[in-house]
Amino acid sequence: MRPVRSSVLCRLLPTPFSPALRSLVLVLLCLTPRCQAVQAENVTVLEGGTAQISCRLQNYDGSIVVIQNPRRQTLFFNGTRALKDDRFQMVLFTPRLVRITLTNVSVSDEGGYFCQLYTDATHHQVATLSVSVPPETPTVEVKQEAVEGGEVELSCMSPRSKPAATLRWMRNGRAIPGVVSQQDNAKTFSVSSTIRIPVERKDNGAALSCEASHPALSGQKRIRHYRLDVYFAPTVRIVPPPGIMREGDSLSLTCSVTGNPLPRNIQWSKINDTLPERAEISGPTFQISRLSQLHNGTYLCQAQNNFGRAADHYTLLVYEPGAVVETHSAVPYAVIGGVLALLVFTVICVLIVTIWCSVRQKGSYLTHEASGLDEHGEVQEAFLNGNDASQGKKEYLL
Ligand SMILES: *[C@@H]1O[C@H](CO)[C@@H](O)[C@H](O)[C@H]1NC(C)=O
Ligand SMILES: *[C@@H]1O[C@H](CO)[C@@H](O)[C@H](O)[C@H]1NC(C)=O
Ligand SMILES: *[C@@H]1O[C@H](CO)[C@@H](O)[C@H](O)[C@H]1NC(C)=O
Ligand SMILES: *[C@@H]1O[C@H](CO)[C@@H](O)[C@H](O)[C@H]1NC(C)=O
Ligand SMILES: *[C@@H]1O[C@H](CO)[C@@H](O)[C@H](O)[C@H]1NC(C)=O
Repeated sequence: MRPVRSSVLCRLLPTPFSPALRSLVLVLLCLTPRCQAVQAENVTVLEGGTAQISCRLQNYDGSIVVIQNPRRQTLFFNGTRALKDDRFQMVLFTPRLVRITLTNVSVSDEGGYFCQLYTDATHHQVATLSVSVPPETPTVEVKQEAVEGGEVELSCMSPRSKPAATLRWMRNGRAIPGVVSQQDNAKTFSVSSTIRIPVERKDNGAALSCEASHPALSGQKRIRHYRLDVYFAPTVRIVPPPGIMREGDSLSLTCSVTGNPLPRNIQWSKINDTLPERAEISGPTFQISRLSQLHNGTYLCQAQNNFGRAADHYTLLVYEPGAVVETHSAVPYAVIGGVLALLVFTVICVLIVTIWCSVRQKGSYLTHEASGLDEHGEVQEAFLNGNDASQGKKEYLL
């Protein structure tokens, strides 16, 4: 007969001890040569990974070692496969250590694996297998569209993790608190975090992100980036040409339009009148070459999207070529003096640079003979060329 007392002691080892302490206690208790014992280690493994289940033996005397799965089906009977599941392999069977591996672990493999030693008094230990499922990169769903002056509702979702992933919304390095909900679907969790934030036009294009963290990701995060798309009604502004318009000039107006979505159609019209026949319209630009006084009037640019409409107008007055036109209020003499001084200074600078250049590159300097041309002729010629008119004028004035 074997000493029953020590067997019982071995079996009733206190569980709250740490593994190291427990093995120490086991060794101390089992110094009596006949005492046998088995020890199992808990394991945590990633889903799809390989788990090692080890049973440590003490004073093994050749008894039968049985390993069972959580449903208490025998996997190996003293080293011989008993259950037909190729994912289990016995990799070691020595008097000190019995080890099996389980490949492609799934959450349904979780539970206690029994290492059992058949002696007079049966010893067993349970190795608890835990399976960890890290989250995929979360997805973002728009629950309520972002319209200027309203609120946007966004949900960040992580459909599967174990233990439950932690989700966090971020904007400019700051966390936005969300309403978290968690659902338990057969051992894994689906988690979502929903935020509602007020949005203005300036928030269009703002960068948000949703981060999923999880113990199995060892500090790393799975991040989904999201750009706010804020809808807003259009704004419209006509960029007027500088200076006054005279007969024969060409007019070019540009309508600058904003809005989300950007209005596709820009409509030009003339108030209380039809558009001049010679008006050339191409999207945001409106052109009339060779103006006449019949073109006097108020021109309108309009745009709209699903969130509103907007318009801007420009009043055109066409003057005779020779007409003296009073611009705004009288300009103070000091200002005129200042402008003249600046002009003189600029001319002197240009002269100095020109002379310097001509001295450096003898004979190969560029000739600017514009001052020799007949002013009136040049301008008129430019205007006769239609579209090139303003360009010609600019070049000349430079
Ligand atoms: C192993 O896991 C089980 C269940 O989670 C637990 O009760 C036990 O204390 C663990 N054993 C060790 C040695 O950590
Ligand atoms: C169980 O297997 C071990 C190792 O192969 C062997 O030494 C021992 O004799 C076997 N025990 C029985 C009862 O067959
Ligand atoms: C791993 O197990 C899953 C089901 O749990 C299966 O769909 C998959 O094909 C297996 N992979 C391999 C490599 O055996
Ligand atoms: C357009 O015509 C109406 C009525 O004839 C007049 O009251 C209004 O001032 C006109 N608008 C412009 C910009 O000429
Ligand atoms: C056009 O406007 C100019 C400047 O106000 C004015 O002198 C001219 O008489 C107007 N012509 C017509 C046809 O309305």
